[in-house]
Amino acid sequence: MANLSVVGLQWGDEGKGKLVDYLAGQFEAVARFNGGSNAGHTVVIGEKKQTFHLVPSGALKDRELLIGAGVALDPAVLREELALLPDKVRRKLLIDGRCSLVSPFDKQLDAVLEELRGVSAIGTTRRGVGPAYAMRALRLAPRSADLLDGTRFAAPTEFYSRLGVDATHFSSWIEESRRVVAGIVGDVGARVIEIGESGGSVLFEASQGTLLDLLHGSYPYVTSSHTVVSYIPAGLGIPPSESGEPLGVLKCYTTRVGGGPFPTELDGPTSDQIRSVGNEYGATTGRPRRVGWLDLVALRYAVRLNGIKNIALSKLDVLSEIRDFSVCVSYRHLGSETSDFQGSIGHLNEVEPVYESPFKMYGASYDNGLPVQGKKLIDYLEDSLGVRVSLVSHGEDRLRTIEL
Ligand code: IMP
Ligand code: MG
Repeated sequence: MANLSVVGLQWGDEGKGKLVDYLAGQFEAVARFNGGSNAGHTVVIGEKKQTFHLVPSGALKDRELLIGAGVALDPAVLREELALLPDKVRRKLLIDGRCSLVSPFDKQLDAVLEELRGVSAIGTTRRGVGPAYAMRALRLAPRSADLLDGTRFAAPTEFYSRLGVDATHFSSWIEESRRVVAGIVGDVGARVIEIGESGGSVLFEASQGTLLDLLHGSYPYVTSSHTVVSYIPAGLGIPPSESGEPLGVLKCYTTRVGGGPFPTELDGPTSDQIRSVGNEYGATTGRPRRVGWLDLVALRYAVRLNGIKNIALSKLDVLSEIRDFSVCVSYRHLGSETSDFQGSIGHLNEVEPVYESPFKMYGASYDNGLPVQGKKLIDYLEDSLGVRVSLVSHGEDRLRTIEL
């Protein structure tokens, strides 16, 4: 079997964690290639619910777990997360030596920058991920391998001491971090290739969503890394030929957490109801997510950017409890209609969505397989986006999944 990637087609929180856990059994390893502990991937098994921020979501399926060079690694978060998991999970984990480290000082910087931005704050998760990548671009970020050979800390120590951080705080953070990663740092790219050569395959788990990509998303209201599948090879250190087929994850309504334009955003009782039925609260920050209808303009752009042919549709059960159902088919701006997302990006907060209500999703039951409404939605999305829907998720639990 070939490698496969799971990528979010909206503003994150599409339900990737559940799908990665569902699919992980077929793969040798699950690998993260972007983002940091800003991610929140939730997996539910029976009564048990677990949220992963750094450890790949394959942990509960006993897979090999890889954290690639493109990930911003916060050793303190990793320590906390591993403490909640069985000991064997740590033995399955390999962290690339080239990962940029996130320090407590990056987290302070994240908070200060957000406060300075005032009303135009991005609404970051304040996990220090943006500052850590910025430190990397400044050639100041310590890497995970640096913890082990004890070099290259003079420049960041000096940088932070000019911002008021005591050098002894910096060195005690280094000492503590060294203990967290000792024995599990290596070359993730080489391991991915090795798995392929021995006949196995790897599942790549993207964090955040396509519309939060640093280059291609709704800048500046984006995250600080690349969330599109074209970043997989760079973020892992493998050739593009190894990055496999992408599976796009699409939630059957839209959510966004943090600031920034959101053309199909709803307010009032329908959004409150979707938020409550879908439990749309940030897995990392607990913030209520903003809620809206599906947006085909944005989705066509995300499908094109990632070269998506296959889609997993998530949270269909939520629509069963919502009386209305609409889909945005184009945007209206200054009297004309457009379906060009990228062309609208400079004025996304001014466009008016043009809606279609092709059928009702209310009252559908998924207990005995896919109901007629579910089939209609699949046909509609397949026609509108030129994709095939190959998986349907209709509940948090692993078992609530239908393969098509
Ligand atoms: P940062 O990634 O913490 O810098 O936050 C930048 C933006 O991305 C904010 O709007 C966050 O809410 C959003 N964001 C970051 N990670 C996630 C995620 O995993 N899911 C959804 N939104 C995210
Ligand atoms: Mg999430």
